[in-house]
Amino acid sequence: MICQKHLFQLPEEIHYLNNAYMSPLLKSVEEKGIEGMQRKRNPISIKPVDFFTDVKGVRQKFGTLVNCDPSQVAVMPSVSYGMNSVIRNIPYRRGQHALTVSEEFPSCYYTAERWCSDNGAELRVVARKDDLPQKGRDWNERILEAISSDTAFVVMASVHWMNGTKFDLESIGDRCREVGAKLIVDGSQSVGALPMDVKKYKIDALICAAYKWLMGPYSTALSFIHEDFNEGIPLEESWMTRINAERFDRLTQYVDAYKPGATRFDVGQSSNFISMPMLDEALRQILDWGVEEIQEYGRKLGEPLIDYFLHKGATLDDEAYRAHHLMGLQLLADTNGEALLAELQSRNVYVSLRGNNIRISINVFNNESDVGELIAAMDK
Ligand SMILES: Cc1ncc(COP(=O)(O)O)c(C=O)c1O
Repeated sequence: MICQKHLFQLPEEIHYLNNAYMSPLLKSVEEKGIEGMQRKRNPISIKPVDFFTDVKGVRQKFGTLVNCDPSQVAVMPSVSYGMNSVIRNIPYRRGQHALTVSEEFPSCYYTAERWCSDNGAELRVVARKDDLPQKGRDWNERILEAISSDTAFVVMASVHWMNGTKFDLESIGDRCREVGAKLIVDGSQSVGALPMDVKKYKIDALICAAYKWLMGPYSTALSFIHEDFNEGIPLEESWMTRINAERFDRLTQYVDAYKPGATRFDVGQSSNFISMPMLDEALRQILDWGVEEIQEYGRKLGEPLIDYFLHKGATLDDEAYRAHHLMGLQLLADTNGEALLAELQSRNVYVSLRGNNIRISINVFNNESDVGELIAAMDK
């Protein structure tokens, strides 16, 4: 793959290595948004059938991306919404606990904490040991050891949002299945940049914010929810998720039945006429590029950075435990992260500070100049 910067409108002088914060908008996605906004100039252009069609395309494309049936995809506004939709449907059995990893994203942590406090259960946290050379491998091993027949669910990311650790989801999924624990994954920092397969990893629910690696607009998220939840209670009771929703003339002939699959978990007004066509186009583009190619692009472009950090004495995890599109560089205790960030920004280099990690993320709009400028600025 060659650099795709021409498909975006990022100013030439900006070195934006911060897709993990928010992706820039593709030109084609922006066009869909403008078209969607203009549609409401004249409401007769929006037909009843349109309330369901754009969302259908989004479900199909996301299903292709994560290897699930489109009927098991739910349209949501955020990860917090998705986590709560799923976790509140996990039954509690006396003596059970929930499991997560240290510094997990708050939308996941707080939802697990809520489930635990509602049920009087313990929330166990498996911490990363920062002083080890092979932090990722050790962390994964201790997560596997912590999963037991008393684990109700594990909630964690596929790639840690702060430090870039890539978890071994296949082993974790196998272990969860073995003991009967649900595996709930936050894919916000990986799906769209790293291959995902909910069947291979035996995932019970995968929730992804769509404004990062899925390149969609803000306030959109997509979820795969396993068939086991198909009888679950959704957060809302929207008319759109009921079996008779297409018949606008008969909506008050109330029905008990929801549409099949995970549709019952859709947010109300899921057929947003601006954001859904945008998300549909973003997913089309990602599938067209190919996720493996996106990851490989990040690996190649990041090589000089890795060499530079190794040369400076950094230690890196084995490749199996780190992603190429998102890396967290743990700062030394005496480094002022805020000052470093400000210095980088004064040179138009944009990364994030998360905890004591400088988080660098690479996507297909980045080029050698971005990486070169980051190295030059870090050196300074
Ligand atoms: C790992 C991860 N999950 C979720 C989110 C967004 O969460 P929410 O959609 O609840 O705002 C972010 C945003 O930075 C994130 O990094």
